[in-house]
Amino acid sequence: MTRKKMAFFERFADLCGTMPQPGAFLTVEGPGGKPNVMTIGWACLGVLWGEPVMEVLVRPSRHTFGLMEKAKHFSVSAPLGKLQKKLAFCGSRSGRDIDKIEACGLRVSPGVTKGVSVVEGCDLYYECELVHKTQVVKENLRKDFIKRYYEGEDFHTIFAGRIVESYSV
Ligand SMILES: Cc1cc2nc3c(=O)[nH]c(=O)nc-3n(C[C@H](O)[C@H](O)[C@H](O)COP(=O)(O)O)c2cc1C
Repeated sequence: MTRKKMAFFERFADLCGTMPQPGAFLTVEGPGGKPNVMTIGWACLGVLWGEPVMEVLVRPSRHTFGLMEKAKHFSVSAPLGKLQKKLAFCGSRSGRDIDKIEACGLRVSPGVTKGVSVVEGCDLYYECELVHKTQVVKENLRKDFIKRYYEGEDFHTIFAGRIVESYSV
């Protein structure tokens, strides 16, 4: 793929337009560098600690969660108006049970950064180095959000990644 470097904020509106649906691909490598892909509908892009940062929210029940706990990097690959069936698939099946990449015919290739994989055929790419994580705290959250999103008590962890590469294709 031919990558065109972009400032991390350059396509902010386009990225936000993919959320909460149909979403974007969060890719993280597991043991031996094997990537797993899950769909995310929530993310935050901005400046933290004087650095460009992408925050993604992952529930502990996700296979991705265990991988994120051990990983040093992750990527977000955002397709604009395409790959919607594959987004739905990666957002409903778990890498714990199947190799989603193979099962839905995704092409995943190495990113610019060592230890980062990205989903081919997308439009916007963010390669991130994990720098912080924190859990959503029940006591600190608006009551109706708890009811709406956390009846199962599966509180997200917010993983923050410093954006080391951002590009469009
Ligand atoms: C549009 C969409 C957005 C989603 N957003 C998130 C999200 O931001 N965080 C999350 O933990 N799960 C989210 N999910 C659910 C996961 O993608 C889903 O549970 C997936 O099967 C987890 O895969 P894994 O077990 O391989 O990690 C979303 C699903 C869809 C369809």
